[in-house]
Amino acid sequence: MKRVVNFLIFIMLPWFSDAQQFVANYDESKVPAYTLPDPLIFNNGTAVVTKKDWGKRRSEIYQLFEKEVFGVVPPWKGTIKATVVSRKTDALEGIAKRKEVQLQFIKGDKKTVVTILIYLPQNSKDSPLFLGYNFGGNHTATTEPDVLIPDSWVSNNTESGISDNHANEAGRGKAVSRWPMKEIVSRGFGVATVYYGDVDPDFNDGFKNGVHQLFDAKRDSASWGSIATWAWGLSRIMDYFETDQEINAKKVIVIGHSRLGKTSLWAGAADKRFAMVISNNSGCGGAALSKRIFGETVGRTNTAFPHWFCDNYKKYSEKEELMPVDQHELLALIAPRPVYVASASEDLWADPKGEFLSCVYATPVYQLLGLKGLPTKVMPALSTPVTGDIAYHIRPGKHDITLYDWTCYMDFAKHYFSDVTSGLSVK
Ligand code: GCU
Repeated sequence: MKRVVNFLIFIMLPWFSDAQQFVANYDESKVPAYTLPDPLIFNNGTAVVTKKDWGKRRSEIYQLFEKEVFGVVPPWKGTIKATVVSRKTDALEGIAKRKEVQLQFIKGDKKTVVTILIYLPQNSKDSPLFLGYNFGGNHTATTEPDVLIPDSWVSNNTESGISDNHANEAGRGKAVSRWPMKEIVSRGFGVATVYYGDVDPDFNDGFKNGVHQLFDAKRDSASWGSIATWAWGLSRIMDYFETDQEINAKKVIVIGHSRLGKTSLWAGAADKRFAMVISNNSGCGGAALSKRIFGETVGRTNTAFPHWFCDNYKKYSEKEELMPVDQHELLALIAPRPVYVASASEDLWADPKGEFLSCVYATPVYQLLGLKGLPTKVMPALSTPVTGDIAYHIRPGKHDITLYDWTCYMDFAKHYFSDVTSGLSVK
């Protein structure tokens, strides 16, 4: 009995100590004074003056994010084989054509399978397309009975009846409020979603499963974490889109909620082929400023999710003031492409104000490039989107992605792809 109690104490100790030590700050008056790195000053202290200078400065910032935050992607030496595994010509009650495409990532005798669920408007060859990961499997994003359930590891979840880390029929349609497919398609957009755990299951296994098993490079303190891995997966999906005659790969909007919003931002920064980037409630390590110390902190993320970022990022746990970058610079890496950041009023953990301020402080980079950035420095009222080349809204309610959020993203995207049926390029 004593041994059992000792064992329980042993396995729960990290949880207790973490829970005891970490108290999130939700008091504006307790936000410490902080200084943000200036995206328009080179590492050597000289000013970025021309658009050409920005190209060089962008590389500096990109490399800092790679080496100190998300981690460096090792060389890929395998092959990827795409197969259309299903087609439906009258999906979503006839308004969409649907297909499922499997990408087999192969290296030697090992293989990882990633399944993409794609809806496109009927009669459209050229629609802008939202691409985003889902949390529970493609079947959770739709009620359609024949959409495949993933085979890969999923986290256990009582509501979806998962207790053996395998998704099952009970989860079908559970995330439809986050994936309003009919509304998206009826406005002339395509939408593609992928279960993020197909690429890298979201638990700390020392990078052995998902696509990691297909890489043989030795890991070091700058090696990629899961967010960089998921972002890499999005780029491989983009490679596939470039070969698909039914998809216009020049109009892909990468979108993500929460940890997957951190992922969409990094994917957009790392891969300039994404025409537009959307971060929904991405918080710490996403759009929220790290040095502001409000809600979740770098230290808290590193403790709870040690596999998300590279090991170098752990140097900044509760030492955010030492970070050589902050998240406004992550947004700046997306320039000149449009980026939309959204918060929710009750999602203080993700620091709505810190997400807003990132947009404000990324704006000088857009302005240097002759664009607007975010056309305000004042946090807007609830449900009042502000849109320049950077857009921002805060809606009432909890940490989630809702139809309201999607409607704002679609309005914004309509503006940029002004004729969604005949295919104009991004401004
Ligand atoms: C946790 C984590 C956040 C993350 C969120 C999510 O709350 O602390 O950083 O964004 O999970 O992905 O749902």
